[in-house]
This record gives sequence, structure tokens and C-alpha cells, in this order.
Amino acid sequence: MKRKIRMGMVGGGSGSFIGAVHRMAANLDGQVELVCGAFSSRPEVARQSGIDLFLPQDRVYTSFEEMVEKEAVLPEDKRMDFVSIVTPNHVHFEPAKLALEKGFHVVCEKPLCFSLEEAYALRKLVEQSDLEFCVTHTYTGYPMVKEARDLIKAGKLGKIRKVIVEYPQGWLSTNVEASGQTQASWRTDPKRSGMGGSVGDIGTHAENLAEYISGLKITELCADVSTMVEGRLLDDDANILLHFDNGAKGVLHCSQICAGEENDLNIRIYGEKGGIVWKQMEPNTLLVKMHEAPAQIYRTGGDRPYLGEGAQAHTRVPAGHPEGYLEAFANLYHNFARVLQAKLEGKQPDPQHQDYPTIYDGVRGMEFIVSVIKSSESQEKWFKFISEE
Ligand code: NAI
Repeated sequence: MKRKIRMGMVGGGSGSFIGAVHRMAANLDGQVELVCGAFSSRPEVARQSGIDLFLPQDRVYTSFEEMVEKEAVLPEDKRMDFVSIVTPNHVHFEPAKLALEKGFHVVCEKPLCFSLEEAYALRKLVEQSDLEFCVTHTYTGYPMVKEARDLIKAGKLGKIRKVIVEYPQGWLSTNVEASGQTQASWRTDPKRSGMGGSVGDIGTHAENLAEYISGLKITELCADVSTMVEGRLLDDDANILLHFDNGAKGVLHCSQICAGEENDLNIRIYGEKGGIVWKQMEPNTLLVKMHEAPAQIYRTGGDRPYLGEGAQAHTRVPAGHPEGYLEAFANLYHNFARVLQAKLEGKQPDPQHQDYPTIYDGVRGMEFIVSVIKSSESQEKWFKFISEE
């Protein structure tokens, strides 16, 4: 029973940022179709956004409650299969919970939700169901990130000793929120963003990337979290020392006040035998530096036999044809849709397709936010990573 996987969207109305990126990513491989949406909390914007996306009027809803309730009673060959939640952080939990309760799979933006309690409640709902839950930590979708992870997993670098992950941005270097800029306004509002500012917004991506590539887990940390811009209500800069579960040490910094920076996420990981370097703004290159040997430049490309299965399975075009953010994002949707397809057909999903961030990554991100903020407030040097695993 092969057919397109049907998506409903919460948020992503006109004037928003990431919703449109999700729609592009979902479309890229032709496996997913947008069939309905509740695109805004403002009914007129929700309706107009549906018109702009050529959706039939009766599938454009003015609230996520209406969408989930009405879709749940549609015939099976019509109703959505999953909900994609692309709203600000304080509007992740309720739509995700309702969708799971009504039997829909979920794709949800990061950070998973507003509080750790909500995160654990969602995890419980997922565990009690047979539903899939993807948290869009986009950066895990890059072929060279998969390659770095696979090299480390295969022991090429030896035992990992050091992880350095940096996520500097500059767009909040001034009090942008005072002008009412949409994306800055809710991100700097503790009632809508949650406990963390930069820590939740981009620190969680850095934490997720470090654990994904290294295969290690953070066990304790020592955080110094600041608000540099006067009048701002949440952090905009954080410098964090890390301890990992194999004894490795690390440094994570995330900042939105590095004036002049764009989106310079980068990571370096060193083992006993060598290291890797990956930079988000040059995503098709992975540097592999072995001890006392010349550095090697690995490049993406579907026709590169030296790359591992993970990188090859997540590459679309031959070498020399750059892929980037949208393709990495699309890899999450591609895998998620393939897993749902396998479920529809009653088949076992391909392990390669099960490679997308899940509810557990989302929970980990929420635990990271709370651990970092509490560490920064505490006088203890080493703060135990809060985890209910
Ligand atoms: P945004 O402010 O541009 O868009 C939010 C959208 O949600 C708007 O269309 C708004 O009308 C809608 N909305 C708000 N309340 C709603 C409700 N009750 N019902 C329906 N729609 C509602 O925000 P942005 O920048 O797109 O961020 C959204 C989420 O995506 C955040 O959680 C953010 O952390 C995450 N994000 C993730 C990225 C990634 O790399 N994975 C990148 C950017 C954002």
C-alpha cells in the first residue's frame, strides 16, 4: 500500500520562519504531501496562509485543537498521518500531546517543549503508543555529520578524549526584541521561550550534535550563562565545560551576541589516534586529522566509495554539487516518511531510515537546558546532568 505520507502543520503561517523550511524539506523527496494546517493563532492569518498554500478550505483550521479533532474523524484514506509542529516553544506540548492521544505521529521543533515536566509527559505518551516522534535537530541530517559519527563508531579516532562544539550567532547583539521583531520577541520572552534563551534556542542543537557524533553522553557540566544585552530577560551567551560518560572532556559555547557572526556552528572531536572537524557553513567538507599524518579532506558526493553507508544514504547528488541546510532538513523528513511508509505496509523499517532525532533527543535537550541554567546559578563547580534515563 504505497502512497504519499500526509502531513498536517501547526504554525508556519505567513511571516514565520521555520514552517516554510519544513514544507520545502518535506517536499524534496516527493514522499510527503501537506493536506491540512492550523497555521496561526490568528484566524485570518491561518485562513489566508491555507489559501496561499492551495489547500482546500475545509482542511484549513483556525486552531490545532480543531485540526486534530476533525482530522481524527475523517476517513482513513483522507486524514493526515502526522502533525508537524513549528510554533514557538510554549506551543509545542499541547498540540503534540493531543496529536499523540488521537493516534497521530509527530514531527516537533526543538527545544521539545517549555518545561522538563512536559518533556517527560510526552516521552511517556510516546512510549505507551506505537507512534513515531521526530524532533528536528536539523544538523544531524548532514552526510558529513553521519560520516563523522560512523568514523568514531568504527574506532578510527580511538577512544574519544575531547569534544569542542561552538555555536556563535550575532543576530541578537542589540535589543532587537524592543522593535517587536517576531522571532526575537518570543525567543527572549521567558513565558514563550522557556527557561533558556540562547541555551534553549541553539545550545540544544550543539548538545545534540556533540552527543550524536561522539556517541557519548554528558554526565556533568560547569556553566557560565550571561545576559549581555541590557534589558533582555533571558540568556544570550553561555560558556560551558563538559564531562562525558567515557571520561572525555569538552567545551560547549553558544551565543547570540557574537556580533558579525551568521550561523557558525562547528565541532571538533579528538580521540587517541586523531580528530575530526566539521563546520555547518562548509557542510560538504569533513576534515580528518590523524596523528602524525597529513590531514585528509573528505567531501560529500553520492559517487564517493570511500564514504560510509550513512553518508552515502543521505547524499542526493554527485560530488561537486553542493548540498546544504534544506537537504539536511529533508533527510529528517525522508527517513521519518520512510519509517511511516514501512509501518503502513506492515514491514520492518530499514535501520538507515530510523536515523532521525527522536523524543529521547528532545528530552535530553530539555534536561540540558535545566542542567545548564541550574549549574550557572549554583556555586558547585561540577553540576550533575539532570537525567531520568
Ligand atoms: P516564528 O515566530 O517565525 O513562527 C511561529 C509560527 O507559529 C507563526 O506562524 C505563528 O503564527 C504560529 N503560532 C503561534 N501560536 C500558534 C498557535 N497557537 N496555533 C497555531 N500557530 C501558532 O518562529 P520560528 O522562528 O519559525 O520558530 C518556531 C519553532 O521552530 C521554535 O520552536 C524554534 O525553536 C524552532 N526553530 C528550529 C530551527 C531548526 O534549525 N530546527 C530553526 C528555527 C526555529
